[in-house]
Amino acid sequence: MALRNIVEKGDKVLEKHCRPVTEFNEKLHLLLDDMAETLEKSDGVGLAAPQVGILRRIVLVLETNVAEDEEEYIIELINPEIIAERGEQEGPEGCLSLPGVYGWVERPEHVVVRAQDRDGDWFEVEGDGLTARAFCHELDHLEGIMFDDIADHIMSDEELDAFYGKNREEQERRSRPRGRERIRERKA
Ligand code: NI
Repeated sequence: MALRNIVEKGDKVLEKHCRPVTEFNEKLHLLLDDMAETLEKSDGVGLAAPQVGILRRIVLVLETNVAEDEEEYIIELINPEIIAERGEQEGPEGCLSLPGVYGWVERPEHVVVRAQDRDGDWFEVEGDGLTARAFCHELDHLEGIMFDDIADHIMSDEELDAFYGKNREEQERRSRPRGRERIRERKA
């Protein structure tokens, strides 16, 4: 496995429509393994193939809504589509391809995604809260859409401080790696 370079906003690869995956082969598995390693090394909750320069319909999402004694885990989604959604949530959203920037973005509270796994088998997976947000955010990447394109506005430092509490940095430092405040501000 190897780390892949994450491209940043301004690179045209992030503005393009991605093509479906048709071959579920060794090359795909290598890409998925590399993307997983790249996501694990970042502070993100999701990664889409165009973010590593590949214009294919592949995303990874980190499921963070797990019990205290369970590990967070990565969901691999090939050719994904949202087949149901309900509710709404509003809040800060960031992206590994736009470091340090957070926008106020409305998303559904719950989504159901249909996708293929690395062997081409179809499955359905549901996500709530941050996971639902990550599914929507990553699928947008496959259409060349980034969160700042659809954000109500980009959040100022003052606004982020107000949202997370005055001592945002101190709070982050003290919070456990899986502490809610930290997770909520992770990038997708
Ligand atoms: Ni992103």
